[in-house]
Amino acid sequence: MSVRGVHHLGFAVADLDEAVSTYAELFGATVEHRERVEEQGVEAASVLVGPDRIELLAPTGDDTPVGRFLANRGPGMHHVAYEVDDVRAALADLARKGVELIDHEPRHGLFGLEVAFVHPDAVHGVLTEVVCPV
Ligand code: CO
Repeated sequence: MSVRGVHHLGFAVADLDEAVSTYAELFGATVEHRERVEEQGVEAASVLVGPDRIELLAPTGDDTPVGRFLANRGPGMHHVAYEVDDVRAALADLARKGVELIDHEPRHGLFGLEVAFVHPDAVHGVLTEVVCPV
């Protein structure tokens, strides 16, 4: 697997507009993309902070993955995403190494990215995403 670097850090937030404003005011961040994906239960913004990127994730309801995360853990760090050349090849490589995967196949993620999630138990408690811009 060839990893290009960190693509983004994902943060769970209760209110997307408020979070976008906070990052703009504190760090001069700018919104790169914003979208609401009902089937994933998320309203998200891709935000540039200097040359780097964060993903702000707000739930569309309580009974959604991000809604449950907020209820259990409160707002904060949610995941790290590494950019790879090929998500399918990365999954095959991780599976060969015995890693527990959440997604066994690449899927369509936010903002047109091809993505897959790796179980946090395999990465010392950090929910990890591999992504490839398509
Ligand atoms: Co992400």
